[in-house]
Amino acid sequence: MPYTLLIRNCGQLLTLSGGPTHRPLTGPDLASWLILENAFVACENERIVALGLMAELDESQITPATQIVDAQGKVVMPGLVECHTHLVFAGNRAHEFQRKLQGESYLDILASGGGILSTVRATRAASEAELLDNALRHLRDFRRYGVTTVEAKSGYGLDRETELRLVRVARQAGRQQPVRVVPTFLGAHVVPPEYKGRPADYLDFLAAEVLPALRGEAEFVDIFCEQGAFSVEDSRRYLQQARELGFGLKIHAEQLHDLGGSAMAAELGAVSVDHCDYLNAEDAATIAAGGQTVVVLLPLVPLFLRQETYAPGRQLIEQGLPVAISTDFNPGSCPSKNLWLALSVACLKMGLTPLEAIAGVTLNAAWALNRATEIGSIAVGKRADILVLDVPDYQQIPYWLGENPVREVIIGGVTSAL
Ligand code: NIG
Ligand code: FE
Repeated sequence: MPYTLLIRNCGQLLTLSGGPTHRPLTGPDLASWLILENAFVACENERIVALGLMAELDESQITPATQIVDAQGKVVMPGLVECHTHLVFAGNRAHEFQRKLQGESYLDILASGGGILSTVRATRAASEAELLDNALRHLRDFRRYGVTTVEAKSGYGLDRETELRLVRVARQAGRQQPVRVVPTFLGAHVVPPEYKGRPADYLDFLAAEVLPALRGEAEFVDIFCEQGAFSVEDSRRYLQQARELGFGLKIHAEQLHDLGGSAMAAELGAVSVDHCDYLNAEDAATIAAGGQTVVVLLPLVPLFLRQETYAPGRQLIEQGLPVAISTDFNPGSCPSKNLWLALSVACLKMGLTPLEAIAGVTLNAAWALNRATEIGSIAVGKRADILVLDVPDYQQIPYWLGENPVREVIIGGVTSAL
């Protein structure tokens, strides 16, 4: 079959497909990446079918029906994979910004009934149509930034009906526009007012009454393991129950304190452990030894919460851990959808190199969603989620701080207007 789409004159084609295919990229693997200069990539419908140097292009596969995109010597790379967001919510927390500037901490605001609980009140009161509208608007913004897959957590309902609604809205939003949505159940975000002081009872309720209804609807189960949310012991029991029901596991851990949640979740086979700003080297070694878990770093969160402690990204990579980067888009700790900014801050505050950070928002993020065979790199057989950027050299990606370098977004072989 002839090419349906050809992207030609790629100044640098960042394939991310030169390394090992059976595990996420880390440390020395990154040196084996393929960066092809003056290259092309060709697709048949939603799949990539060929790539190589322009000199190797087989012109016989080009027909009048082939759509041709001229990259004009600029960088071409895989679509961004946003592997940790709280996509579906109502309202905003701009009113808490001032409190934060005056010195109140994230956990103080939560303990006073604000924070996550304030978004829970707004979300419970919103209609399903309003929630869907909000999610679609955010997905359109993500797509403009070149994000082609978005993980979407529930977690602002904290009751059966609203939590199921949030997962339903995430799935529906995925069907109504081109960005792929991967739903995660985060009913265990904080303890709702109805269960105040009884976190274990709330988790038992989720495991018995909500998780069974989500089989086939949400792929992952996540929990916020932190002071003021859920303990390591309660989290362990809940994640074990989720695993028995067949869910993949994720955890929010070591965000504000070093409690040991990340190592615990890795021992249970979690696909990712997220935040990790307070992760210690010994627990990092435990996660590395497990060999199944990606560490998802969220550098815009400490920035927005005015904290000085950032995850030790450089050290984690030196320890052999695969690292992904995400915004954590949500109304409380990161109201930004700019994954390019997160990538830059990962370089500036966590010590990643530009290539490590680029792997963090593509192939390693795909591993964090258990989708690395399908997305995250430019390789024959993979889905044609591809970006044409406006910069000629990948080193400029983290450099133009806060800018959006995206010129063209291709999702499943289809170019979409931005
Ligand atoms: O990943 N830390 C817990 N949950 C979110 C924030 C949610 C919120 O503040 O609304 C996070 O940072
Ligand atoms: Fe989060």
